[in-house]
Amino acid sequence: MNMKIAIWDQRYSVSVKSIDQDHQKLFDLLNQLFEAMTKGQGKNIIGSIVQELERYTIYHFNREETFFRTTGYSKANEHIAEHSFFKQKVAEFKQNINKSDSTITPDVLTFLRDWLVNHILKIDKAYEAHFKKYSIQ
Ligand code: FEO
Repeated sequence: MNMKIAIWDQRYSVSVKSIDQDHQKLFDLLNQLFEAMTKGQGKNIIGSIVQELERYTIYHFNREETFFRTTGYSKANEHIAEHSFFKQKVAEFKQNINKSDSTITPDVLTFLRDWLVNHILKIDKAYEAHFKKYSIQ
């Protein structure tokens, strides 16, 4: 049975195909982490998923921030500050896994999922109408 902590559906859509696909990939990585944690996988496996989560998070945030620049998005600064906060948290979790025998805890996983879901629904959704004007895909 596949265990999931985050399921993407249309209410998360920001009407930009590349960004919706990024968000689906990030949900997929959270589900991989959840499954690995539930099965009691060791820090090597958990650590490599967190590493990929960090890499893909940065890749995704860079995509959005490039669109902000190319379209002159007025709420870019506060949005980028949110991204910076999350990148720092993910980097901290990765370091904690690397420097100890701990893996990931349910609290950390819940934090990552809740932050991402809230960010998409509140902060990302705010650019939907703006990007539509520029036909960003
Ligand atoms: Fe989709 Fe602002 O992150």
